[in-house]
Amino acid sequence: MVQVAILGYGTVGSGVYEVLKTNRDSIKEKAGDEICVKYVLDLRDFPGDPVEEVLVHDYEVIVNDPEVDIVVEVMGGIEPAHTFAKRALEAGKSVATSNKAMVAQCGQELCKIAREKNINFLFEASCGGGIPIIRPLYHALTAEVIDEITGILNGTTNYMLYKMSTEGSDFDEVLKEAQAKGYAEADPTADIEGHDVCRKIAILSSIAYGKFINYEDIPTEGITKITAVDMKYAKELGMAIKLLGTSRREGDQVYALVAPYLVGPSSQLYSVNDVFNGIFVHGNMLGDAMFYGSGAGKLPTASAVTADIIEEAKNLHKNVTYGLSEENMQLMSVDNVVGRYFVRFQGTEAEAESVFGPLDHVMDQIEEGEIGFVTGQMSFGEYQKKAEELGRIVQMIRVKD
Ligand code: HSE
Repeated sequence: MVQVAILGYGTVGSGVYEVLKTNRDSIKEKAGDEICVKYVLDLRDFPGDPVEEVLVHDYEVIVNDPEVDIVVEVMGGIEPAHTFAKRALEAGKSVATSNKAMVAQCGQELCKIAREKNINFLFEASCGGGIPIIRPLYHALTAEVIDEITGILNGTTNYMLYKMSTEGSDFDEVLKEAQAKGYAEADPTADIEGHDVCRKIAILSSIAYGKFINYEDIPTEGITKITAVDMKYAKELGMAIKLLGTSRREGDQVYALVAPYLVGPSSQLYSVNDVFNGIFVHGNMLGDAMFYGSGAGKLPTASAVTADIIEEAKNLHKNVTYGLSEENMQLMSVDNVVGRYFVRFQGTEAEAESVFGPLDHVMDQIEEGEIGFVTGQMSFGEYQKKAEELGRIVQMIRVKD
């Protein structure tokens, strides 16, 4: 029997408990042994819940129990999650986690300890919820030189943008809905300010390009500045506003960015709606590939965590951790990245044209006192200079070509 301890009985933790119970027989067959939850750690009590039988409040019970083979860290946040995961690995227990903040910040260190101890640190659920993406990047796409990863990587904000666009919902109201559905982080600032996507694209890019990318080096914008008026312009353009995490190879350099984008119907990401996530990968041999599925929520995320538990149960004393490189990558500046920009400007077309040159899709009917337009191709640095020269710009959203 393989004994597991789950740290945190929140949305994901209770989901893992449920998946292990519901699919007990098929999991036993696949793991080659029974997987049994010996402990669940939480500060709270859960009167009447069957979890009471295995509930503990003290981590020392878990880390000092030699019968515990696998520790499942689904508490979220950096501390005490990081200390608990590190101590578990040092005690020879494999760790499975959905905690993207911890993986992005401490993943290099935790992978190293797992390698040294010949055990495993796995984090499939940290990116894309239930979508298999980390294993495919390590295994199925290992022959590729990856040129680009662009993803809708946050279920909460995708749900919000979709509802704002289709139902005209209010930002705060729809955020509350996403929280009630168990999509959002404990502090939803991480979702709406793009921090969650930033961690996820840092992890995926580190795997795809083979060197560790520090999430703090990735320029990040969230969706808090997106308004109902922007949605009207997007509709007029026949496009959708999506929060994207993107990284791309340009020559021998890589850039990464998190920002809202206008996405047209020719992109595979255009119809990734509601809480779903979509991750577009371009490989030099493969061409385009698209990974799609439930990006947040209790059971999809728990399913991915449980897959890691099964893999760890099958490899109790063998390191199969794909790992995060110990070498760091220096990202290129996004100022040098070329693109087109949707702009809302409180002035005339002639004024805008005098600075930006020929404009596309000029719209003067959407909001009084302003026009909207799309610029030609230019680097972000060039855009910034022109925007400063022109002034009176009330909004800019990048266009995904
Ligand atoms: N808050 C995250 C999201 C949870 O909305 O995508 C899954 O990582």
